[in-house]
Amino acid sequence: MANYVDKAEMDRQKSYLYKLQEINNNFLKEHGRKPLANTETYGCQQNENDTERIRGMLSAAGFDFCESHDEADLVIYNTCAVRENAEDKVYGRLGILKHVKESRPDMIIALCGCMVQQDHIVEKLKKIHSHVDLIFGTHALYRLPELLYNTISQKKKVVDTENCDGRIAEDIPILRDSSDKAWVSIMYGCNNFCSYCIVPYVRGRERSRKPEMILSEINELVENGVTEICLLGQNVNSYGKDLEEDIDFSDLLKMVDAIEGVKRIRFMTSHPKDFGDKLIETMANSEKICKQLHLPFQAGNDRVLKDMNRKYTKAEYLEKIRKVKEKIPDIYLSSDVIVGFPTETNEEFLDTIQVLKEVEFDMIFSFIYSKREGTPAAEMDFVLSEEEIHNNFNTLLEVQNEISKRKNDAYVGRICSVLVEGESKNNPEMLSGRTDSSKIVNFKGDSSLKGKYVNVKITQAHTWSLNGELVE
Ligand code: SAH
Ligand code: SF4
Ligand code: F3S
Repeated sequence: MANYVDKAEMDRQKSYLYKLQEINNNFLKEHGRKPLANTETYGCQQNENDTERIRGMLSAAGFDFCESHDEADLVIYNTCAVRENAEDKVYGRLGILKHVKESRPDMIIALCGCMVQQDHIVEKLKKIHSHVDLIFGTHALYRLPELLYNTISQKKKVVDTENCDGRIAEDIPILRDSSDKAWVSIMYGCNNFCSYCIVPYVRGRERSRKPEMILSEINELVENGVTEICLLGQNVNSYGKDLEEDIDFSDLLKMVDAIEGVKRIRFMTSHPKDFGDKLIETMANSEKICKQLHLPFQAGNDRVLKDMNRKYTKAEYLEKIRKVKEKIPDIYLSSDVIVGFPTETNEEFLDTIQVLKEVEFDMIFSFIYSKREGTPAAEMDFVLSEEEIHNNFNTLLEVQNEISKRKNDAYVGRICSVLVEGESKNNPEMLSGRTDSSKIVNFKGDSSLKGKYVNVKITQAHTWSLNGELVE
């Protein structure tokens, strides 16, 4: 059983929300406006979901929000540690904020999330970025009211990056980005320790939320008009292993499926080692579970997979994909791939290409390996030069882009049900939405369609998206 943050502690945090409200009311009287907070998210969907909770707490404390640090009284960056470039972006932003803070010393700068759950980063921040006022790790998220109150009222630096296996905190206020679809975390942490990955060190051990808490969150979302639910976990296939009741991820999916008002169910991420027949059956038998599967394979070569500590072979992975395709013929498949794992040779990389060609994913997220301090892979020597790794990365993109375009071409002429998300990011004259299979579709239509399901006839395919026309 996971360790829960008890009600008394959550009430204590609530009392700090009231104290912050008092401070912010005085701010309002003095300045004629509420204090403004700017939040930025650098990581995965779980990180985004955490930001929604941060915004929920800030809103309850009396903050309004702004889009840029320029007007902000409080800046919170929710950071990611998965690759070096995610951390570099944050350092870049902190450099800019240093100058902003020189002209506006009252501005509060806070960093939270996975990056600051690492001791060596906190040490660096203290030395080089002393203008950061508040640092709190992933385990301290629910303590934000207390930490922020201490930062503001005591005008001193606050750091809370306690490391632990992790707890579950329920009932943190939340301000969601979308009113049509919602992230719902079903579990936290990761036990897999893939040799390249920092996540298990910064997110703690796997812990599942109780099903009744998950279902009550979804029921409330549905009452508020949400129709698409995305269940989140680093490895959703482990759901329930730590719970007293006999429940697994497929059982949970069936419970969510039974909620009236839920129209689409997605989930991520599945680890191939625990992905099995029961889940395939559950997906195939449900009208609501989207015909979409994100199943990261990372590398195609068995020796590399072993060094990565992934606990499956290429043949086992391909067999699972074969079964999925057999039971769900129109499945949308995506994956994560790492190029340039330290011990990977050019020849072994060709096995990755072979998996791409054999599976024909609709889309992949490809990454060049990034060394993460404290992980086993950080101790391994590179066999390839940077140039060779970049060449392999380009080969991978070329192969996949051709496949993605070909898969999208097959959609031309089809009529798809699309949940309208809003104006297209690149062209405000167009609406944008997603099919059941998660393809992005752009089409002309009235913005009043946002949040509705419409039928769109696909007229044109690109590598990353589709164009279409509204039909009755
Ligand atoms: N829990 C998820 C993934 C979380 S991290 C899963 O196991 O599928 C998202 C992706 O980042 C991983 O799938 C992997 O492809 C990539 N990644 C993780 N650590 C990395 C590293 N050190 N360098 C490059 N990519 C990495
Ligand atoms: Fe990282 Fe592996 Fe856990 Fe995914 S399963 S978060 S890649 S350690
Ligand atoms: Fe997510 Fe990045 Fe943390 S991928 S779990 S925000 S390290």
